[in-house]
Amino acid sequence: MTKPQKKYNNPFTATYKGISDLFKKQERVGELKPDERLDGKKVLITGSSSGLGLATAKELARLGAEVIMAVRSGIPERGEEVKKASGSTKVHMIHVDLSDFDSIKNLVKEIKSQFNKIDILICNAAVVSKKARKTKHELEEMFSVNYLAKFVLVNLLLKEDTFIKDGSGLPRIIFVSSESHRNPDGFEWDDFGAFKEYSMGKSVERYGYYKLLMTTFSQELSRRLNPNQHPEYSVFALCPGPVNSNIAREAPALFQPLLKLVFKMFFRSPEDASEPVVYLTTSKDVEGKATDYLFLMSRKDVDEKAADPQNGKLLWQKTEELLKKHQVEI
Ligand SMILES: NC(=O)c1ccc[n+]([C@@H]2O[C@H](COP(=O)([O-])OP(=O)(O)OC[C@H]3O[C@@H](n4cnc5c(N)ncnc54)[C@H](OP(=O)(O)O)[C@@H]3O)[C@@H](O)[C@H]2O)c1
Repeated sequence: MTKPQKKYNNPFTATYKGISDLFKKQERVGELKPDERLDGKKVLITGSSSGLGLATAKELARLGAEVIMAVRSGIPERGEEVKKASGSTKVHMIHVDLSDFDSIKNLVKEIKSQFNKIDILICNAAVVSKKARKTKHELEEMFSVNYLAKFVLVNLLLKEDTFIKDGSGLPRIIFVSSESHRNPDGFEWDDFGAFKEYSMGKSVERYGYYKLLMTTFSQELSRRLNPNQHPEYSVFALCPGPVNSNIAREAPALFQPLLKLVFKMFFRSPEDASEPVVYLTTSKDVEGKATDYLFLMSRKDVDEKAADPQNGKLLWQKTEELLKKHQVEI
């Protein structure tokens, strides 16, 4: 019988789990070799105004990529920071609010008109909301940004034939997930996407559920894009482990000083934490793979709920129905 999995559904147990995982011995998947670079590759990365995304943008630019930062804030100063840190001038910024489907459509339009095609997409942006908030489309914001936006962005980019397929390597679509995707007991199929109230005490639980949706989507996407033995796209996901970023910015002001201290002392810097993102973006070791999942720098299976094709199929269907209901065309 499989051991029931422990839940890390509140900010304290989730923080403890993140720290304790860092001390566990992990078998490393490999190293990025000095000659592995991204010269000539165009990489689109969301949420690169802060934390992990910003650190990743700097490293990818340093490795020679043309980096397109899709951000809600930090234009132009974060882009200038990336240029300065990497010594590259091939750094661009496009505004996007991922809670707004019109803004996502505009991002895709800008990508087409400014760059035509890209090689790699990194879906990194996410939020941990202190309470349920409605987007302009009447959807819950964390659900929308952390899951639905990814479904819409990826499908629009695919529809517009935005990925370069010139034989120089498979296009890569990379999702920054979290080990918290293992926490939920299952899917909320009956009222999928319905707005539900929650407050801070439940936000980590909701966050884990949306990471489950995103990870399940990544698996289904890989199956749909790669129907036969010869993969045409690489669809990767990863958990960077605990990162000293701005992810807890909405935690109560009373806890902020303590959280900042714990994050600083025990969490990894965004630069160190970006290693699995940079590896999956750049490494030749994963070239030609249809799917992969890393936790820190070790390879793991995604949770069995996320890997189950029945769940993937149903998630896709429910998401399409929801978008139709909200009159979002993809
Ligand atoms: N921190 C951790 O311990 C940890 C652990 C596991 C996984 N992760 C994952 O790592 C990824 C990066 O998070 P982080 O830790 O670096 O947090 P962060 O510093 O808060 O960065 C989050 C990024 O997402 C952007 N974002 C949020 N809502 C957005 C929206 N509506 N439209 C556009 N962009 C939006 C933010 O933009 P603004 O700056 O404009 O708000 C920011 O650039 C996330 O997917 C997170 O779930 C983090």
